[in-house]
Amino acid sequence: MNLYNLFKSVAFQIDPETAHNQSMALLSRFPESLATFLGVHEKLLENDSSLDLSVSLNDGNTWSFPVGLAAGLDKNAEAINFFSTIPFGAIEVGTVTPRPQEGNPKPRMFRLKEEESLLNRMGFNNEGMDQVFLHLKKADRHGKVVGVNLGKNKTTPQDSAAEDYRVLFNKFAPVASYLVINVSSPNTPGLRDLQSISSLKEIFEALQDLRREYSVPLYLKISPDLALEDLPAIVELAQEFKLSGLIATNTTIRKDLGVGGISGRLLQEKGRLVREKVLEALGPDSELELIGVGGITTFNDLLDFWRAGGKVCQIYTAFIYQGPGLLLDWRQQMIDLMNKGQVKNFEELRTFIQKDSPLAQRS
Ligand SMILES: Cc1cc2nc3c(=O)[nH]c(=O)nc-3n(C[C@H](O)[C@H](O)[C@H](O)COP(=O)(O)O)c2cc1C
Repeated sequence: MNLYNLFKSVAFQIDPETAHNQSMALLSRFPESLATFLGVHEKLLENDSSLDLSVSLNDGNTWSFPVGLAAGLDKNAEAINFFSTIPFGAIEVGTVTPRPQEGNPKPRMFRLKEEESLLNRMGFNNEGMDQVFLHLKKADRHGKVVGVNLGKNKTTPQDSAAEDYRVLFNKFAPVASYLVINVSSPNTPGLRDLQSISSLKEIFEALQDLRREYSVPLYLKISPDLALEDLPAIVELAQEFKLSGLIATNTTIRKDLGVGGISGRLLQEKGRLVREKVLEALGPDSELELIGVGGITTFNDLLDFWRAGGKVCQIYTAFIYQGPGLLLDWRQQMIDLMNKGQVKNFEELRTFIQKDSPLAQRS
């Protein structure tokens, strides 16, 4: 049994949010020693300097690895020192709101173990932008890309939402590698209505002057529950406002499984369909990027994403179920493919995979 499985066998005996909070407390206190203990510290990796898995995006950022940490795990930017010391290519913190917020009543996080999935209705519990900003300033990022995911407070009236995003943008633009407008969480009443074209326009128009001041990359994170036929209009809007790209997807609503958002394997198919539709609407030579997230569970999911034209992705639920060793496993599979394809860098690897070589076929 590997060490993460041992840890999991204990952690999965207790309530998910308590396990989460206790793990985060440990990770923030002992980042280096825990990374070493779990065998995932980057300094332990055998580095073949002739193989380069870093990915340069059109937004100007370079991810050191094509897989990053999705928003919601490190909401308050407390454990960047840990997550940046393991082989994540980028880390997204948040969602952060202008004012501190308690979130929804507990319990609000549930495991669906058989389905390798989670149900959550956290409701943007976070310490608020001032505190999160201080954590970010103090963190050691080990040179990694760190994005900040922004959300409106629950008590902010719907028609003042743009002002919340302005205040947050202004606060984090100087310290973030990229920013994300999050209007896709199912757990803040009315939030997803802001995905209408007119509401999105209002938000992006309100940010225009700040974006001229700060050139920080800006993304929009979308829900998997948008109708596929509505996606091209959102892509068009993102192009019109010269966003850096989209992040697809957030969690999905499954009323049959309870109130909240579903992530993990149960989102695999829906997430893939939405990403493929977005990539199709973006076209092959798009300046805009798609950060893929939502149900990415196996290395084959990553191959599917690359074949469809994607580059970098994020994970949350697979990380909880499979542990940080998953990053080493996927890294090794990439290296094996690079050796087989006799390619040396990520772009060549992606081209090799897209050629649909039998070596890279779905297993
Ligand atoms: C407990 C939990 C909390 C989350 N909190 C946030 C959040 O604050 N902001 C956000 O944009 N996404 C949040 N997410 C969504 C994830 O970032 C991701 O989009 C989603 O879980 C799908 O990816 P996955 O299947 O790899 O988990 C949360 C997910 C979970 C499971």
